Amino acid sequence: MNVLIVSSSANGDASVSNRLAERFVDSLDPGARIVRRDVGANPLPHLTAETVAAIKGEPATAAELEARALSDRLVGELQAADVIVIASPMYNFGMSSTLKSWFDHVARAGLTFRYTADGPEGLLKGKRTVVIESRAGFYGEGGTPHMDGQEPHLRALLGFVGLDDVAYITAEKLAFGPEAAEASIEAAARELNEIAARALLLAA
Ligand SMILES: Cc1cc2nc3c(=O)[nH]c(=O)nc-3n(C[C@H](O)[C@H](O)[C@H](O)COP(=O)(O)O)c2cc1C
Repeated sequence: MNVLIVSSSANGDASVSNRLAERFVDSLDPGARIVRRDVGANPLPHLTAETVAAIKGEPATAAELEARALSDRLVGELQAADVIVIASPMYNFGMSSTLKSWFDHVARAGLTFRYTADGPEGLLKGKRTVVIESRAGFYGEGGTPHMDGQEPHLRALLGFVGLDDVAYITAEKLAFGPEAAEASIEAAARELNEIAARALLLAA
């Protein structure tokens, strides 16, 4: 089993989403092959005229070839994964720009999606995805759901590339005092454990 962990917090070891992702990894079978792509610690370059040309068209210059090779590597990690874990902190009501940049590199026509006469078709099939969201506020019922630009965007992007078996686990109210934060983090950890158990991914 290949597991790709895409983490995107700027907060390193102190990050809630990173810590939850690591707890999920700990609950997996030790035989699982874990690949880590930490775009929070090692951000990908934003797209430029040159890299858009390289990723969407035919690369010609050395810089374009390098950009294409990076995108190919990131897409290859996704294609090889049976399970994809995306650790997503909320920054300014959306995903972090580092995670958005990762999507900009992996949304590739012909590789991860294609357009057909019936509309777009996602090409990443038969994979399980777990999204771990962490945020200070509360965007569920009774909170401010209209300000959640994170999960709807993630749902659109993951669906677009064909990732349709997705569990969304959210640690929120992280700024509502230590008790609320702890309760939310532990509830998220329990849900992750259950997912690992349900999907028979649990360590023996
Ligand atoms: C730059 C920045 C922007 C943030 N914006 C929001 C926000 O819009 N809404 C929110 O609920 N929390 C916001 N937060 C709080 C984070 O979502 C919270 O600290 C969360 O734990 C981050 O995930 P991490 O611990 O995995 O890094 C922000 C934090 C930072 C550093």
